[in-house]
Amino acid sequence: MNGPMSRRTERVRVVTTAQTPELDVQPTPLALLLLGREADPKSERGVECPGDLPSPSDPDLVERARAAKEKLGDKVFVLGHHYQRDEVIQFADVTGDSFKLARDAAARPEAEYIVFCGVHFMAESADILTGDEQKVVLPDLAAGCSMADMATAEQVAECWDVLTEAGIAEQVVPVSYMNSSADIKAFTGKHGGTICTSSNAKKALDWAFEQGEKVLFLPDQHLGRNTAVRDMGMSLDDCVVYNPHKPNGGLTAEQLRDAKMILWRGHCSVHGRFSLDSVNDVRERIPGVNVLVHPECKHEVVAAADYVGSTEYIIKALEAAPAGSKWAIGTELNLVRRLANRFAPEGKEIVFLDKTVCFCSTMNRIDLPHLVWTLESLAEGNLVNRIEVDKETEAFAKLALERMLALP
Ligand code: 13P
Ligand code: SF4
Repeated sequence: MNGPMSRRTERVRVVTTAQTPELDVQPTPLALLLLGREADPKSERGVECPGDLPSPSDPDLVERARAAKEKLGDKVFVLGHHYQRDEVIQFADVTGDSFKLARDAAARPEAEYIVFCGVHFMAESADILTGDEQKVVLPDLAAGCSMADMATAEQVAECWDVLTEAGIAEQVVPVSYMNSSADIKAFTGKHGGTICTSSNAKKALDWAFEQGEKVLFLPDQHLGRNTAVRDMGMSLDDCVVYNPHKPNGGLTAEQLRDAKMILWRGHCSVHGRFSLDSVNDVRERIPGVNVLVHPECKHEVVAAADYVGSTEYIIKALEAAPAGSKWAIGTELNLVRRLANRFAPEGKEIVFLDKTVCFCSTMNRIDLPHLVWTLESLAEGNLVNRIEVDKETEAFAKLALERMLALP
């Protein structure tokens, strides 16, 4: 992108039926845009592919991807997040969770092109952490993240004004989840805060509480609450939820002053599907099952689970699990299915925690046709789908990311 990413914030009409009450919220307009259709010039989402994609039924796609990657040689480095499809992940030079991929991207200064098979905020972070001459490419520009879209720069600036008016801004340290736009990361850096991922959220909060008395945690309320309560011994009453769609976040100045954790009202739609019922059901269906969930799940799900951790943690836990053990996993389905297939020959039974299938639709946008088109374009010397954060945003966002990378 050239220029800071800005998002539309004008009020949209919420259509209700006779049965549903009028909503008092202002949904983020981007959420209403059909992915991959139409175009919003101010956003990465809803942008159609600027070239001719090969047909998904082309039997030579795997061969074409391999040939293009071979032609590019050391010029290209392909990163793959664990939620990517099997057909895509096979071409990744490294796979990982958000934290590992951020580090891996920063450790490849010789690669001219970093092809990020993941979502937009990950590619932005890679651009921030790589050299100016390196180009980060996202195979489908519509691969956004609905959680990241739940906190816009305008909304967060308004929140800071509310905290200032309540007289507490100076005590507040922002901690932003990696799953946020570069603008939000820059805000965090500018205000003395750090980024965290699901694998280092406790360390980030420990650090933040050494710098100040309160934390503004953006944008995933669940990761913030789960880390504060489960890992740091705070109570649910120490947390308040700031709703950006309500005046003053829906909170009084007194509530803000009393809180230790001010949680942004954002969530992941994929992990939000898992419920306490899914945990109870699976325990009834599979006696002796171990329930292992991602910390983006709701607090009651995390509290009822046996183990909680990032995607990398989940993989390591299953690698270390004994033969004959049974596992129900609460995270994205591409990863769970891959792990179930990988560990079945070792006698480990792995099932998806929910009864209905649930992929991350934006992660899934990166498919073989997009990857082939990207690699072939780069091999022909055409730079496509570059993700470029403007210099000012980059400087402050980098500060926040580097604080995270320096955590013990
Ligand atoms: P991790 O891979 O860091 O666990 O994050 C999961 C996720 O939701 C990425 O979007
Ligand atoms: Fe965003 Fe959730 Fe998909 Fe991760 S799984 S990219 S948080 S929508």
